[in-house]
Amino acid sequence: MIDDISSARDAALAALSLAATVDALDAVVGEHLGKRGPLSSLKARLGSLPTVDEKKAMGQVLNEAMQSVAAAADERRALLAAVERRARLDGERMDLTEYRRPARRGHAHLVTEAWERLEDVFVGLGFKVAEGPEIETDWYNFEALNMPPSHPARSMWDTLFVDHGPAGSTVLRTHTSPVQARVMTTQEPPIYVVAPGRVFRNETADATHMPVFHQIEGLVVDRGISFADLAGTIEAFTRAFFGPGFTSRLRPSFFPFTEPSAEFDIRRPDGSWLELGGCGMVHPNVLASCGIDPEEWSGFAFGFGIDRMAKEYHGVDDLREMYSNDIRFIEQF
Ligand code: DAH
Repeated sequence: MIDDISSARDAALAALSLAATVDALDAVVGEHLGKRGPLSSLKARLGSLPTVDEKKAMGQVLNEAMQSVAAAADERRALLAAVERRARLDGERMDLTEYRRPARRGHAHLVTEAWERLEDVFVGLGFKVAEGPEIETDWYNFEALNMPPSHPARSMWDTLFVDHGPAGSTVLRTHTSPVQARVMTTQEPPIYVVAPGRVFRNETADATHMPVFHQIEGLVVDRGISFADLAGTIEAFTRAFFGPGFTSRLRPSFFPFTEPSAEFDIRRPDGSWLELGGCGMVHPNVLASCGIDPEEWSGFAFGFGIDRMAKEYHGVDDLREMYSNDIRFIEQF
């Protein structure tokens, strides 16, 4: 019987060593150590041994055989599990070299680029750059600009109010024009400033409007400033920004803070016109509100949308695209 035990054990060990996967190993274990396996059936034969001592001795040999098979199975299981794990990890590893692209450089946002170029052009014409807050008081946004409370012209700007202080006293600035008032109340003429910045309107986004957009304001206050200075400045700016094939024109219009007021358009080389912004001679009431004597000083002002300029400059159809951050769009510029 002892030979039968040894050969059953050796057969089991041989089968274990051939098992190539954890699953195959489990099957071998079931086959050789299970209830119907050769080692278990040897157990049944113990009963037929003549003496108790023999049963004990043979029972021990059989137990040892089964234990050695079980131990060998555990050892091999650990090994196979490690091999399988490694294979799985190797399979999941990403080959990052596959994703390497030639190095690319990004660029500033189209509006930022236009903003910076506008500053450069105006600094080149002798202007300084000024700034004001995006959250503004009613006084700077409207009243100082010749729009007392409930002046009808206020409805030209769909205003977003900030819940701060007395109702209606605080707004998200609807234009960069309040920076004019901030500059005039803090600086002595002569004044030559541009003020680019973010502005806000209670408007739904569409192809040509955004609720948050950018303007650049210009303000000149000096002795003997005339409408011709305004027209000449707009023309010089147009050529410097867009190129020599472009010209500008002024059309009569109305703004409460300028008198006379005009809108200015840019003529493209193909003869079509682009409406760009508003301008005019600073209203004497505005100068006076800001502590500047309108008898001694005069000035002009203008304001226009930076986003629209960037849109035109790059031939973008829809303003919203400039804010979508779609890399396929951005990469075109
Ligand atoms: N603030 C005006 C707007 O948002 C634009 C504007 C018009 C600015 C005339 C000016 C100006 O400085 O003189 O529509």
